Amino acid sequence: MSDEPSKVPQHVAVIMDGNGRWAKARGWPRLKGHQEGAKSLRAILRACRDHGVKYLTVYAFSSENWIRPKAEVSGLMSLLKTFLRKQEFELHENKVRLRMIGQMADLPGAVQQELQRVMAATAHYPDHHLILALSYGSRAEITAACRQIARKAKAGTLDPEKITDATVAQHLYLPDVPDPDLLIRTSGEMRISNFLLWQISYAELYVTPVLWPDFREPEFAAALADYAGRHRRFGDIK
Ligand code: FPP
Repeated sequence: MSDEPSKVPQHVAVIMDGNGRWAKARGWPRLKGHQEGAKSLRAILRACRDHGVKYLTVYAFSSENWIRPKAEVSGLMSLLKTFLRKQEFELHENKVRLRMIGQMADLPGAVQQELQRVMAATAHYPDHHLILALSYGSRAEITAACRQIARKAKAGTLDPEKITDATVAQHLYLPDVPDPDLLIRTSGEMRISNFLLWQISYAELYVTPVLWPDFREPEFAAALADYAGRHRRFGDIK
């Protein structure tokens, strides 16, 4: 580990919270909050490019979100489809690779198709990554990794004594992606909500009261400035 870690995080993860409250405060339907939230996501993706952040992972739909009213779930799914269609041009223009973590099979067929198409079309871009967490839960991710590791141990291809934290990391959804350096949560809630539990072990946390639809480039720049002032010790005393 270098003594002078970069002041710009390589990987930023975001819990995009507060869309519903933003809409409610205006007397608007919750979906309007999600639509404005999609605009924030576009703005933050651009800001990542401008500030040199290579990986952006966003919690777009958790494995728990399926219990929301049917209309909200289907509204979010169709917003996701629209987002992918509208965003595709800009992903190519900025050479951003689209990836996902979560249970792809839970998503409606049309959303899966659109996701697969855009992920395949952008798979060759090596430098900038947008990772959508969809039907994602961290405990499920870690459990699936344990299951795979146990299968290998049972088959005799992996010695249980040789299992390290690197072994577990290699069995998570995207083993090539570095851990987040910075985790942002909007709307002031002090919770992790089953998001990237393994990967955020050493991430710096930044919680802002700003609701996600109001979180744009200036708010992102403020989070990066805050991060730049942190002293990361990774368990050391320096
Ligand atoms: C949390 O706000 C947000 C979500 C559950 C969905 C996040 C989705 C977007 C930002 C839409 C754009 C993204 C894509 C990829 C379509 P909340 O509804 O829990 O807000 P509340 O806590 O104020 O009710």
